[in-house]
Amino acid sequence: MIAIDDLHKEFPGPDGPVPVLRGVSLHVAKGEIFGIIGRSGAGKSTLVRCINLLERPSRGSVTVGGRALSALDGPALRAARREIGMVFQHFNLLSSRTVRDNVALPLELTRVPRAAKRRRVTDLLELVGLSDQAESYPAQLSGGQKQRVGIARALASRPSVLLCDEATSALDPETTKSVLALLKEISRSLGLTIVLITHEMQVIKEIADRVAVLDEGRVVEQGRVFDVFTSPAHSTTRALVREVLNLELPESLASRLRHTPSTASHLVVRITFTGAAAHAPIMSEMVRRFGVSFNILHGHIDYIQDAPYGTLTVDAAGPESGLQAALDFLRHHNLKAEILGRVAETDRAVA
Ligand SMILES: Nc1ncnc2c1ncn2[C@@H]1O[C@H](COP(=O)(O)OP(=O)(O)OP(=O)(O)O)[C@@H](O)[C@H]1O
Ligand SMILES: [Mg+2]
Repeated sequence: MIAIDDLHKEFPGPDGPVPVLRGVSLHVAKGEIFGIIGRSGAGKSTLVRCINLLERPSRGSVTVGGRALSALDGPALRAARREIGMVFQHFNLLSSRTVRDNVALPLELTRVPRAAKRRRVTDLLELVGLSDQAESYPAQLSGGQKQRVGIARALASRPSVLLCDEATSALDPETTKSVLALLKEISRSLGLTIVLITHEMQVIKEIADRVAVLDEGRVVEQGRVFDVFTSPAHSTTRALVREVLNLELPESLASRLRHTPSTASHLVVRITFTGAAAHAPIMSEMVRRFGVSFNILHGHIDYIQDAPYGTLTVDAAGPESGLQAALDFLRHHNLKAEILGRVAETDRAVA
């Protein structure tokens, strides 16, 4: 549905052109919710503005629905842009217009007949759950309601693509959840393709099918959300994932970790469960087979796109050969077993 190939964008600076996008290539399938995440200044907003050609790329191509937007201008570009709806962080509603008239705005620009316009707006307000607020003004609405108006307005001209730039960043966590649920529902029911720009991994985790990580104008990692969360490859991704998956060890344990082997010490192992393995009674089987004792130090289970993803940090004690065999056994069952360090025997009681 969207093909971005080798996109470059430079802005003029005092000492010559400043590169902001440096060769971005992304392909988004029809009906997909595609997340783009990155730190502030990574180039996310510039990238969305290049997708709808509000900003002209310095180099590279943007194709939406089979049409090369980067090759168009004038009326042809304006017509093609109607295929693309846009949702903004600060809603961008007109305060002097009612909810109904805000949603109707794009239809006025394309001269839709009055009766058809009214029907369309009524349907859109129902879709976003705001039928009873049609005659209210933006100032009378909560943030979440304002964003629902923004979404209804973006859908008015029946776009096939919706671009959301930090659409939930001004909302509290509960409201964010409900707006994301709405986006997911309309993506599924209308077959709408959504590109979701955010700096919050929680947003990606909640609704995206795939994600690309943007860092200093480059895509440093992309893939299915579950895979990127469970095996992040790039340091930026790892840092973003850590913020939401609560993988940090408690300070009391982290400060006692040693990284050099000593005779009377115990292994501290982080075991990661994904997918079906999360339900298997592999741990108890391992304890029985290899004669090692396990003491749970820290545990956490999460769901990414309804698939379980858990981590368990354990203190493992036993003969060295038994410990190694136990870890091999876990890995053989597709569990990740990562040795974080060792703690001294005397320290163990405090754990
Ligand atoms: N019109 C412009 N002229 C010059 N520089 C610009 C322009 N627009 C963006 N930039 C620069 O490009 C870089 C990326 O900006 P952009 O707004 O795309 O980042 P972002 O990832 O959306 O950040 P944020 O999370 O803060 O919204 C920044 O250094 C910014 O100063
Ligand atoms: Mg931005």
